[in-house]
Amino acid sequence: ELGHFTHYMEKEIFEQPTALENSMRGRFSDDDSTAKFGGLNLDPVQWRQIDRILFCACGTTWHACLTAEYLIEKYARIPVEVEYASEFRYRNAPLDKNTLVFVISQSGETLDTLEALREAKRKGYIVLGITNGVGSSIARETDGGIYQHAGPEIGVASTKAFTSQILLSGMLALHLGRMRDLSFGDGREMVAAFRSLPGLVSTVLDQADKIKEIAEKYADFSDFLFLGRQSMFPIALEGALKLKEISYIHAEGYPAGEMKHGPIALISEECPSVILSPHGDTLKKVISNIQETRARKGSVIAITSAGKDFPQDTADEIIHIPQAHDCIMPILATIPLQLLAYYIAVKRGCDVDKPRNLAKSVTVE
Ligand code: F6R
Repeated sequence: ELGHFTHYMEKEIFEQPTALENSMRGRFSDDDSTAKFGGLNLDPVQWRQIDRILFCACGTTWHACLTAEYLIEKYARIPVEVEYASEFRYRNAPLDKNTLVFVISQSGETLDTLEALREAKRKGYIVLGITNGVGSSIARETDGGIYQHAGPEIGVASTKAFTSQILLSGMLALHLGRMRDLSFGDGREMVAAFRSLPGLVSTVLDQADKIKEIAEKYADFSDFLFLGRQSMFPIALEGALKLKEISYIHAEGYPAGEMKHGPIALISEECPSVILSPHGDTLKKVISNIQETRARKGSVIAITSAGKDFPQDTADEIIHIPQAHDCIMPILATIPLQLLAYYIAVKRGCDVDKPRNLAKSVTVE
């Protein structure tokens, strides 16, 4: 089943163009310039009444929810909150009556998320889900939802399920945006961007050999920082989590702008940083974060879509990703981080598909 791959995680990273294609198949309408989902079970009037969305999830999937917050607030202008499912369940959070609750779970069996869903339903809220687990407990107990169709994920560390969740959150942002203020033309650009995604992901995967070389060079460090701004912040958190989980290296993700408020104290030649530096409004600020890091002897691995605007001497290592519509940039930035974590773990001789102490689906609270 592994084909020419050594691990399921590796196979699943490389399967992402197909998994993303399958997640979006049949879900666009060119006539309406929008995304459509068959199973959400809410009519347009109900959708219009919603003035807040609460997302609940755990782990990597919680990072997908944080990305969803950026995408939905940006394109649909609906306020979004994100909670750890395990916190929401016991916090008795006050929710407005027009709040829609969304749970996301790859497996559909995570008990913390299932209990958050039950708590929200018990209080009378409509709860929708995004899950890869067809017929799973979460699929059965939600009022409606979206199946990811990303295919089975066997590696314990989530990869293709994560990018599929972000894609579907972006498509949900488009769907909700087109019910509100997003124009036909803006919707059309987003549809085109989503359709181009599998091909763009392939071009990032084509750089695997180069990323492997970088990974091998940095595999012996015991601490890493991951930094990013805006929608790249949750991706920085995810990059750090992937590295922790499978290589047992201590890593922390931070919003790049927070560095000077504390984490900068950690920087030394012993602690490299992975810095997400996409083209756009904050590029200059991120480049100054890179300079501050290097001035303190910390090596920088930069992931950038800025091409020529990101000169070769800006960072110690540069991984280029394509510059595309903002709605797909978080996915493109995720791919090099997955490969980096994977190749570092392999180099350290770790069992990447079955990391110590972790289970694929966590059915205890
Ligand atoms: C990390 C990872 C976990 C899961 C989390 C939620 O790589 O896989 O953090 O994301 O346990 O799992 P699901 O999405 O199945 O609810």
